[in-house]
Amino acid sequence: MKEEYGFNIGDVRIPGRIALAPMAGYTEYPFRAVVAGFGCPLAVTPLVSAKGLSMGNRSSAAILRKGPGDAEVVAGQVFGADPKAMADAAWHVADVGFDLVDVNLGCPVRKVHRQSAGAALTADLELLRKVVKAVVRASPIPVTAKIRVGLSDDTINGPEVAKVLEGEGVVCVAVHGRTVVQGFSGRSDPDRIAEVVNEVEIPVVANGDVTTPPKAKELLERTGAAAIMIGRAALRAPDLIARADEYIRTGAEPPAADVDVLFDAYVRLFDLTANAYGDERAAKIIRKFVINLAKGFPGARRLREKGAAVSSREEYINVLDEMQRTTPANPSSSAVRV
Ligand SMILES: Cc1cc2nc3c(=O)[nH]c(=O)nc-3n(C[C@H](O)[C@H](O)[C@H](O)COP(=O)(O)O)c2cc1C
Repeated sequence: MKEEYGFNIGDVRIPGRIALAPMAGYTEYPFRAVVAGFGCPLAVTPLVSAKGLSMGNRSSAAILRKGPGDAEVVAGQVFGADPKAMADAAWHVADVGFDLVDVNLGCPVRKVHRQSAGAALTADLELLRKVVKAVVRASPIPVTAKIRVGLSDDTINGPEVAKVLEGEGVVCVAVHGRTVVQGFSGRSDPDRIAEVVNEVEIPVVANGDVTTPPKAKELLERTGAAAIMIGRAALRAPDLIARADEYIRTGAEPPAADVDVLFDAYVRLFDLTANAYGDERAAKIIRKFVINLAKGFPGARRLREKGAAVSSREEYINVLDEMQRTTPANPSSSAVRV
């Protein structure tokens, strides 16, 4: 019998090989639903503070909303360095109805580092072990983690960290090919991701700088990973995940969505955001999406300025209309710059 396309994370079947990467401020439910409208087998929420959840912080809990038409499988991502709070957070994620709980071990932001959480945990393997053990023991759903390839060029400990995670019962690890010191600068290194793939038996998801279906295939083949995770490029091409998956599955690269289909999706993004947060807040939330989107268009600077000032659905649609008028070709058909 022909093997079904996709892979397994623990006992959860992922019906594809391309995932939407977690992005704070972006991969909440509304944007996930827009991406899933084109097809999305796996997505990850933005990182949520375990401490915030344990203190009943409403904005932390709000990040962990699900809704109709979400990605097929969704992981709720949590960060923290307190084993008890992290174990409770895993329960919360499962309780909301997520399929997987993902431990953030790659965030280099100071606010997270100060709590010894995110990437900082990968510098203290004993504490890492305690935190992950507590999460795995408490979680009623499979536990995954997202790491970087290492702390710095001098300390490429991604393989060692992945081995620790596997030993504690983590069933899949996503690896961003930059070091913690790199932050988001320089290049993501596929060979360092491959070193992690070679170290563990659990599936590894390779991540970093994928902007087109062929680049997704290249990273998959070069690293030997089970799947690929795409972040920034999906913000301007929400159909990219589905197209890359189709390309890997069939070998034929599907055309990018027509510009009007794409813009309908961005209008839907506003409406879903307004349903979740109200019109006024939606107008604010949508600004960063417009600013991002504007990058690929002629007159980007003016469009960015207009996008940053959007204060209603009507103004948002006016900016989208202006983009559409100035678009010489489909913006998502070319390589998206990240
Ligand atoms: C705006 C932004 C927010 C991010 N937030 C998170 C996050 O909440 N959790 C996480 O694990 N990674 C986060 N990341 C990292 C991405 O998941 C991904 O590893 C990184 O962007 C590289 O992939 P890409 O080149 O496909 O964008 C974020 C990245 C960006 C650009």
